[in-house]
Amino acid sequence: MEKFEIFLVVAPGLEEEAAAEAREQGFAKAKVMPGGVAIRGGWPDVWRANLVLRIPGRVLARLARFQAMSFKALEAQLDEVEWATVIAPGQEVRAEAATKHSKLYHAGAVKQRLEQALERQGAVISPEGLKVMLRIEQNRCVLSVDTSGEGLHRRGYKEAVNKAPMRETMASGFLRAAGYSGREALIDPMCGSGTFPIEAAELAAGLAPGRARHFAFEGFAGFDAAAFAALKRPPVARSEGPIMGFDRDAGAVAMSRENAARAGVDVSFTTKPISELERPDCAPGLVICNPPYGARIGNKKPLYALYGSFGAVMRERFAGWRVAMVTADDGMAKATGLPWQPAGRHVAHGGLKVRLWQVQL
Ligand SMILES: C[S@@+](CC[C@H](N)C(=O)[O-])C[C@H]1O[C@@H](n2cnc3c(N)ncnc32)[C@H](O)[C@@H]1O
Repeated sequence: MEKFEIFLVVAPGLEEEAAAEAREQGFAKAKVMPGGVAIRGGWPDVWRANLVLRIPGRVLARLARFQAMSFKALEAQLDEVEWATVIAPGQEVRAEAATKHSKLYHAGAVKQRLEQALERQGAVISPEGLKVMLRIEQNRCVLSVDTSGEGLHRRGYKEAVNKAPMRETMASGFLRAAGYSGREALIDPMCGSGTFPIEAAELAAGLAPGRARHFAFEGFAGFDAAAFAALKRPPVARSEGPIMGFDRDAGAVAMSRENAARAGVDVSFTTKPISELERPDCAPGLVICNPPYGARIGNKKPLYALYGSFGAVMRERFAGWRVAMVTADDGMAKATGLPWQPAGRHVAHGGLKVRLWQVQL
């Protein structure tokens, strides 16, 4: 199994950003698909994708594609799979199956055959085990293994989390959509637990998002720890501007500071309401935030005033800067009074649909 398909699972709506990031990181043929990005490569590419990509939520290795119209055919095909690079004897695994418009229509029975095939390889079925997935659609089977383990938004530094935090993977997707390259000043005036500034600071410092965490692939039979360690390159910094976070909530600011310290990045966090935000003494850069939207935390009415105040501060004090704002509520985006460009694509976030609004002031 030299080269195979690798699927980067991405929050729907951020696939283009994820593909652009993958290309920039040397995965030249990254192709946008619904809900993700397809690349091709071998196991070292799987490791590197997990280690360096900021936007995908998970990396799947496609182990096989085949047709099966009967359980007998399915079993035979499953025994043909090159399991040796993945499954070591005694390895804990869990199976998942889904079927659609296929002769093998009973997902439970398909899952059972997959479990039996895994057991024939010496694996042990366990609810906490490595996830192996079989999807059948129109009798075509796709067999994948999850190489990430915990979702990739878990960078390994965030213990302190505020209300309604944004996933790191999504924050990085929006940073890219807003054109942030790590080479300009960045301010999040309502930073909560600090996700936008910390992601930005990591990018600016050239730090790999996965540098401090464990991945499922580290337990695979063919994993080469020395080769993986060699992929962890020393960071190459590119920052040219300060990175700052503000929030009116002192608890959120304390949390952000702790998170940034654990991540080992240089961000200044200050307790301040948006009405008191001053333009910093540096070249214009990017202001990015996701203000409260009210659907999950509290009541909507006072929020229109908050958006209005944000818009006024931006217009009056941030001429020359770019402003990017994530919100679930188009009315609130309008309440800023900012001359937004057409909004970006919808992205699912905590049961809501959010999108990015941008403007150059
Ligand atoms: C949706 S949360 C931001 C979440 C953040 N992006 C994260 O990932 O943790 C909105 C934040 O806006 C802050 N906020 C609300 N009103 C504010 C105001 N007038 N000035 C500054 N911050 C405010 C809240 O304290 C909250 O932390």
